[in-house]
Amino acid sequence: MYAAGAENVKRKDYRRMIDNYGRKITYLRLSVTELCNLRCRYCMPENGICLKKREDMLTEEEMISAVRAAARMGINKVRITGGEPLVKKNIISICRNISSIDGIDEVCLTTNGILLPEMAADLKSAGVKRVNISLDTLDPEKFSHITRRNEHTGAMRGLKAALEAGFEKVKINAVLIGGFNDDEIPALAELTVRYPVDVRFIELMPMYDSGDFGKEAYISCSKVVEALPELLPVQPDGGVAELFRLPGAKGNIGLINPVSAHFCGSCSRLRITADGYIKPCLHSPAEFYIKGMNEEEMYGQLIRAVNAKPEWHGEMSAQARSRAGRNMNRIGG
Ligand code: GTP
Ligand code: 5AD
Ligand code: SF4
Repeated sequence: MYAAGAENVKRKDYRRMIDNYGRKITYLRLSVTELCNLRCRYCMPENGICLKKREDMLTEEEMISAVRAAARMGINKVRITGGEPLVKKNIISICRNISSIDGIDEVCLTTNGILLPEMAADLKSAGVKRVNISLDTLDPEKFSHITRRNEHTGAMRGLKAALEAGFEKVKINAVLIGGFNDDEIPALAELTVRYPVDVRFIELMPMYDSGDFGKEAYISCSKVVEALPELLPVQPDGGVAELFRLPGAKGNIGLINPVSAHFCGSCSRLRITADGYIKPCLHSPAEFYIKGMNEEEMYGQLIRAVNAKPEWHGEMSAQARSRAGRNMNRIGG
């Protein structure tokens, strides 16, 4: 393990960074904006976000410097997140520049899909290999309720555009909410039979001041196995999801269980927020500021953040909220 501080680390040193609990840190989630064209109830408060001053947010150049520093430290995969990353004006250029950084093997993106019809081809040309699309329901009215926007048609068009653009992989993320979409488990899962997509069900995480869901909303992904007894287990792909497949399906069903069974023991992730903080853990309040720094200074902060990674994110439930101190739109999931 490296000592804290970047002073003795040579450029282009790709030795893997190991944290205090023996975990290799190889995956960076970079949030490029807090803004979004939806208002998902579990992600942001109703009145949206308070607009930050542009000069308080990372510039494209700072994002590139941060990823360069991270690549020197052993990061080889970057996932671009938001808010909604496709509302960021220079997103294609950001993706292209990050894809061309030495040591970054994979650039992926998580989106609500609405802007994919006009952007999927450019994203692919800019080096984005895989796309994850958030889609919690197939019912237009329920979609409008959970996202507070009438954009179901747009989201479905986005999914179609992603499938046609020829990304290496397309996954759907559905946040599982008791009393809202648990009745749609079979219908959502069936998408893996019709299309070459993975569908992942994610347990609802209780964030800062986003949606006051009742206790009954926090259900375990074991509900998915109960609803689909025909599921067959599949070898894990190194991601956070436990994997299954429906007989004859083209894609996997994934269960992401941060609440009922956290996967912190195999965490390989660091996060950078659009306002310039490295977060060592999604659910910890610890943050390391990088705005205004050069690449060497950012490298030092990345090392400090790795050394500050907690062993796990602590108890979470309807009563015990995440300690992240931010809503999901300001972290990027
Ligand atoms: P790939 O494995 O590359 O396909 O993507 P991913 O699952 O890492 O990324 P995605 O943005 O699709 O995230 C899916 C869900 O997993 C989101 O709800 C994230 O908040 C959640 N998630 C990802 N990493 C972590 C983590 O470190 N801790 C917790 N608790 N949740 C995470
Ligand atoms: N709990 C679980 N998943 C969430 N996401 C956003 N907020 C939450 C939450 N409170 C998901 C989005 C997106 C991914 C990055 O995180 O649906 O797919
Ligand atoms: Fe936007 Fe994604 Fe948050 Fe929904 S979950 S408001 S799509 S950033």
